[in-house]
Amino acid sequence: LGFDRQVVFRRLLKARFFTRLYTRVIGPASVQMFAEPLRTELLEHLPAGSRVLEVGCGPGLQAVDLARQRPDLELTASDFSAEFIDLGSANAARAGAAIRFVVADAMDLSGFPAASFDAVYSLTAIKHFPDPVRGLQQCLRLLKPGGRLLVAEIRRESLLEEVAALVALFRVPGWLKGLMTRLVHGSLREECPPLVDIQRWLSDAGVVDPAAAPHALVGRPAWVATIVKPQAA
Ligand SMILES: C[S@@+](CC[C@H](N)C(=O)[O-])C[C@H]1O[C@@H](n2cnc3c(N)ncnc32)[C@H](O)[C@@H]1O
Repeated sequence: LGFDRQVVFRRLLKARFFTRLYTRVIGPASVQMFAEPLRTELLEHLPAGSRVLEVGCGPGLQAVDLARQRPDLELTASDFSAEFIDLGSANAARAGAAIRFVVADAMDLSGFPAASFDAVYSLTAIKHFPDPVRGLQQCLRLLKPGGRLLVAEIRRESLLEEVAALVALFRVPGWLKGLMTRLVHGSLREECPPLVDIQRWLSDAGVVDPAAAPHALVGRPAWVATIVKPQAA
């Protein structure tokens, strides 16, 4: 049975039930899972007033959390789903967070000026990009020299226990968690790229610094890579 995953996913994103479900059930788990790497690999390196862009922000929960921790930052959150951008704006307004929400496809971020951000981050979105290398290049173009790009994704090689640790954070009844853990773990092979692909994408996007290699989050089913854009020669 052949079907185009991108087409199915784009349709799903237009469905209100899906975006609401994501916001309530999975989004808060993603915020918890990536809170520490975002803090240590991004926030702690950003001086007051830094300009930060999120690519593939979904319902904007991460951006709202960043705004809560660092109200001094100038935050922009982007996603190609207008449905998610509307939800994100509403979530930010409710939380009193000053975040600019913009509909933008990671395949073409030319609406943002080059070298206009101190940091860009993208969490569990890269597996959906039709051309991940292009997505990385688009993000890197937006960084100022010395700026940081943090990319993270669910790890295809994750152990069952690591998936269970993530599902434990989902807002679903306890009796569903075992089943969800097995479903998510079983789908990793289909949904998530292997680490060798990530390494190749980074190198094809021109990233040569060995420190930017993706690393697994301890006890979590995800990897994170932080790229520091070289200062101009
Ligand atoms: C799994 S969700 C992650 C949302 C959020 N980053 C989080 O961690 O909760 C993936 C997000 O990537 C967005 N996305 C997928 N492909 C995209 C693209 N080409 N350009 C922009 N956003 C994209 C989707 O609309 C969705 O909001």
